[in-house]
Amino acid sequence: MKSRIVMELTTMNLMACGALVLLFFASANAQISSPTPAPAPAPDYVNLTDLLSVAGPFRTFLNYLQSTKVIETFQNQANNTDEGITIFVPKDEAFSSLKKPSLSNLTQDQIKSLCLFHALPHYYALADFRNLSQQNPIQTFAGGSYVLNFTDNSGTVRLDSGWTKTKVISAVHATDPVAIYETDKVLLPEVIFGTDIPPTPAPSPAPEIAPAADSPDDRGKSSDSSSPTSAPSSSHRILFKLSHLIMSLIIGSYYTLFW
Ligand SMILES: *[C@@H]1O[C@H](CO)[C@@H](O)[C@H](O)[C@H]1NC(C)=O
Ligand SMILES: *[C@@H]1O[C@H](CO)[C@@H](O)[C@H](O)[C@H]1NC(C)=O
Ligand SMILES: *[C@@H]1O[C@H](CO)[C@@H](O)[C@H](O)[C@H]1NC(C)=O
Ligand SMILES: *[C@@H]1O[C@H](CO)[C@@H](O)[C@H](O)[C@H]1NC(C)=O
Ligand SMILES: *[C@@H]1O[C@H](CO)[C@@H](O)[C@H](O)[C@H]1NC(C)=O
Repeated sequence: MKSRIVMELTTMNLMACGALVLLFFASANAQISSPTPAPAPAPDYVNLTDLLSVAGPFRTFLNYLQSTKVIETFQNQANNTDEGITIFVPKDEAFSSLKKPSLSNLTQDQIKSLCLFHALPHYYALADFRNLSQQNPIQTFAGGSYVLNFTDNSGTVRLDSGWTKTKVISAVHATDPVAIYETDKVLLPEVIFGTDIPPTPAPSPAPEIAPAADSPDDRGKSSDSSSPTSAPSSSHRILFKLSHLIMSLIIGSYYTLFW
C-alpha cells in the first residue's frame, strides 16, 4: 500500500518535472525570438561592397565601382527592385594582365560605362543563360549599344563583347536578387574601343617567343593559328635559309652574267 502511494507520488513528481522542463524551454525560446523581430526582412539585403571585398580578390574592380559610384547604382538595384541584378566580376589579375587596349586612357565617364557594362539589370541564375542566349545581343546595365552575347554550352556560360571572349568561372553569389559571377577577363565594349577589333591571337602565345628572334616575318605568322607555318621547326628554318642562299646565288650569277 505504502509503496504504491510512493510510486504514484514519484510519477506525479516526474510529470511535474517534465512540465517544468517544457515550460522552461518554451520560455527560453520565447526569450530568444521575441525581443528580435527585426531580422525577418533582413536576409534580402546583400552588401555588395562587403561581398566583393571578401571574395576574389576583386579589389581593382571594386575600386572602379567605388570611384565611379556605380556601386551605389548596383546596391540600389539589389535593394530596391524586383528585377535584381547580375554582375560579372573580373579578378585583379584580369586587370593587371590587360595590356592591349589600356584602361588608363579612358575618361571617368567611360570607366563608369565600363563598370555598368559588367552587369545586367536582372537576376539570372546560371540555368537562365541557356534561354538568354537565344535572345542575343543582350543589353547590359550601361544601356544603348552596350551589349553582350551569351552562349550556354552544356552549362558553360560564355560571354562575347566583340573585344572580349570569356566565360563564367564560378558563382560568387547566386541567390535572388543578387547574382555575382567571376569571369577571367575584363569585358571591353565596342562602344568604347571601336569595332576595329584586332584578330584574336592564338590561344597559347608560346610559339611567338622562339621564332621572333631571327625573322620579323615569323611574328605575324605565328599569331595566326590557322597558318600551317606557324611554328617552323629548326630544320625547316635551315632549309628555308639554304633555299634563300641558293636563290641569291642564282640571282647573283645572273647579274654577273648580264652586266
Ligand atoms: C557594407 O560593407 C562594407 C564593407 O564591409 C561596410 O563598410 C559598410 O558599412 C556596409 N554597409 C552597410 C549598409 O551595412
Ligand atoms: C541597401 O539596404 C541597406 C540595408 O537596408 C541600407 O543600409 C543601404 O543604405 C541600402 N543602400 C542603397 C543604395 O539603397
Ligand atoms: C591613349 O590615347 C592616345 C591619344 O588618343 C593614343 O595615341 C594612345 O595610343 C592611347 N594609349 C593607349 C595605351 O591606348
Ligand atoms: C525564355 O525567355 C522568354 C523571353 O524572355 C520568356 O518568355 C520565357 O518564359 C523564358 N523561358 C524560360 C524557361 O525561362
Ligand atoms: C551577337 O549576336 C548577334 C545576333 O546573333 C550578332 O549579330 C552579333 O554579331 C554578335 N556579336 C558578337 C560580338 O559576337
